Parts: sequence; structure tokens; C-alpha cells
Amino acid sequence: MKVTIFGTGYVGLVTGTCLAEMGNHVVCVDVDADKVAGLERGQIPIYEPGLEPMVTRNHASGRLRFTTEAAPAIAQAETIFIAVGTPPDEDGSADLRYVLEVASTIGEHLDHYAVVVDKSTVPVGTADRVRATLRAALDARGAKVEFDVVSNPEFLKEGDAVNDCMRPDRIVIGSSSDRAIAQLSKLYAPFNRNHERLVVMDERSAELTKYAANAMLATKISFMNEIANIAERVGADVEQVRLGIGSDPRIGFHFIYPGAGYGGSCFPKDVQALERTAKAHDYTATLLEAVEAVNAKQKHKLYELIERHFEGDLKGRTIALWGLAFKPNTDDMREAPSRYLMEALWKAGARIRAFDPEARDEARRIYGEREDLLLCDSLQETLDGADALAVVTEWKAFRSPDFEMLAERLGERVLFDGRNLYDPEQVEEAGLAYYGIGRGRSA
Ligand code: UGA
Repeated sequence: MKVTIFGTGYVGLVTGTCLAEMGNHVVCVDVDADKVAGLERGQIPIYEPGLEPMVTRNHASGRLRFTTEAAPAIAQAETIFIAVGTPPDEDGSADLRYVLEVASTIGEHLDHYAVVVDKSTVPVGTADRVRATLRAALDARGAKVEFDVVSNPEFLKEGDAVNDCMRPDRIVIGSSSDRAIAQLSKLYAPFNRNHERLVVMDERSAELTKYAANAMLATKISFMNEIANIAERVGADVEQVRLGIGSDPRIGFHFIYPGAGYGGSCFPKDVQALERTAKAHDYTATLLEAVEAVNAKQKHKLYELIERHFEGDLKGRTIALWGLAFKPNTDDMREAPSRYLMEALWKAGARIRAFDPEARDEARRIYGEREDLLLCDSLQETLDGADALAVVTEWKAFRSPDFEMLAERLGERVLFDGRNLYDPEQVEEAGLAYYGIGRGRSA
């Protein structure tokens, strides 16, 4: 099939590449000429395991191309995906400017039937707006062309995006057009083997499904962070509690890891946007407000532990920091807990020596050169002259450090474990003070 994708961010690039891998001819369109030129040369703008070889392979075979030119890309397409960004605007609602611009562009050039797919996470009712915008652009040039707009939200996770895309646990299609449903079912058939993964529903339900999924996951995390804060106060260990409740299949082990708050480009933005959608329909989403409030508090948790340990005296201290990305296997630092921690530490006059396997360039891009931030090339290097260590992201390489060595190297012999990666007893036996999230002893 011939597919065109607008937007070469996480969703667009991964979706386009996986569709090309399944034998489709895919053209990815982006307005960023440098990014497109880079992709044509095989430079992948994001770190995503498994993506680079797949892009290279499909590009070499001619099934995957990148361009800034919308018109020829639209001319060739049977299915057109809209996968551009929907950043939050000032009040937290999703800004649909880019989505609607693409709809308009499609209307300016479309001359045959196509299925237009909303792949970006967009508020309920967006398919209607895309349809109206596209129709207006067609009418403006007197074109009588048929098309369908379908909601087909993406559920991939950064760091595991290729796998999620190649082996989806469900493919949600929101449409009332039999023609569009048949066309997308055919496109997704290679991803839909062994058992039925297609869930076909109406457009608005599909749009809400995406937000409901992310809001549910964010709720689990905030719930667990709340339990961690209670555990800390009553002298319980939330890690034991996690094991105790996760074995109930109704609760499950996924997404009940306490930590320094959820980050990334999705949960914070989507919970807020759903709350705004509810408000726009005269409903106060009390639970979602609480999920957000708990998360906002949790983002400062690690700093509070550090500040309390040093009794507020952080001026001139050096903190080693492991993990800048908002989670492992990505270089993404959007809404990352590390940023909240670093900014609070700088305000208090501390210096940071940080290491991350992938996100150092991103940190450099965000913060530039500054005296109180050294981006180190190894875990060891972060320890030179450091008073304490804070672990913020659960990269595999951080999981089994030599605690004796840490006790020797850290001036104040203290470890702040923002992801509950370590056994407190083992750390303390090595001669380090241990602080985790919700583990009794940090109260
Ligand atoms: C999330 C969803 O998991 C995807 O299903 C969805 O498609 C995606 O958003 C999206 O809307 O595009 P992502 O943001 O890539 O994916 O990352 P997650 O693995 O979900 O992690 C989000 C945040 O929650 C991270 O900061 C992570 O550290 C935190 N988290 C996750 C916890 O604090 N505890 C947990 O138990 C799990």
C-alpha cells in the first residue's frame, strides 16, 4: 500500500518505518528541512532501540523516503497519517494548530479518495475538526473528492517503540465508514496475526480511549507514590507493599513502581489535556486533578530528601547524578525528574556532576555550558569530589554499583535512590546512608 505520514517525531517515524518494514511504500513529510536531510542520510534524530537499522534497511530498499514536499506525497497516498505534535497551549489544552495545518494542506492537494488518519494524541472531537478543515480546503478550490477521517491512536512507549509498533497489543480504529475500516484493516493485517487485535469503534470513543489509557497508567503511578509517602511516615517499606499488592491480577505489577514522579512527553500533557476537555464540558475531573497534584509534589521528592539530609546547607556541595533521561532507553528529557532535581539543587547553590548513557547531548542542548553542571563520560567520573549520589533514572548499567567503592569516594557517604533500585541493607552495610522513596527509614 502507499502511505504518507506527516510528522517525523517518535510516532510518525516509528509508524512509518514499521509500515515500510511490512512491505508498504511510505513517504514521511516534515517541515524541518534539516531533519529531513539528516534522515535521508541515515541520521536518526532520536535514540530509540532498533530503529536505526530498520530505517536504514527500508530506506535502502526504496520503501521509506523523507521529504519536505507535501504535494507529491499526498498525490501518491492511499492512506495519510497525521502524526505531528500537539503541544500543550497556555491552559494545558492540546494545541491543534499543526494537526489542522496538515488537514488544510491535504485539502489543498488531494485529488483521489484517501483515508486520513489521526495518529497524534488529539482531544475528543478532533476528527470532526480535521474533516471540516480538509473539506473547507477542498471546497476552496472547487474539488469534489471523497475522503474519510479516522481516529487511530498510537500506544507506543518510548524506549520500546519499535517493539510496540511491530507487536501491538491492540489497534484501535475509530470510524463509521466501512470503506475506511476495510482499508485500514488491510494495512494492519500483518500486525494482526494469531489473535484479533483490531478494536473498531466510533471516532469519539477512539479519541477518548487514548486519553483514558494514559490517564489510567498515570493514576496507578500517582496512587503508588501516594502509598510511598504514607509508607515513609508509618515506617513501612513500599517495595514490600508493591510485591504484596501486585500479585493480585486485578491490580498487576505494571506501573506501580514509585519514584520521582512520571515524566515524558505524554502523561503530564495528556492528563492535563483530559482534565481541560472535561472542564470544557462542565465536568470537574477531581481524580485527574489529584493525580496531577500528587505528581507535582513527587517531582520535588528527591530534592526534599537531599535538602533534609544536609539540613538545608547545600551551598558549595557537589552531587553526583546518575540518569538524566525521563526513563531508560531514551535520550528524551521532557518533564524529566532530573530537571526538577537539578534546577532545585542549583538554586540552593550546589554543583552537579551528571552521567546518562544517552541524554548528555540533550542536557547540553537544554542547559548549555554552565559552571555548576559537568556532564561526565562515565559513572566513575561523576564521583570525583562528590558529596552524595542521587540515582534518578533506572538504566540497567546503574543497577549493581560497587557500594564499598561508593562509600570510599563519596565525601558524605550518602546515596539517594530515586527509583528504589537497591537493597537498603546492602547499601548501609557498605557504610553509606540510604534514602529511597517510601522506604520507612527516609521519614
Ligand atoms: C506512555 C504510555 O506508556 C504509552 O502507552 C503511550 O503510547 C505513550 O505514553 C504516549 O502517549 O505516546 P512513555 O511516556 O513513553 O509512554 O513512557 P512510560 O514508560 O509510560 O513512562 C512514563 C513515565 O512514568 C516515566 O517517567 C516513568 O519513569 C514513569 N513510571 C512508569 C513510574 O514512575 N512508575 C511506573 O511504575 C511506570
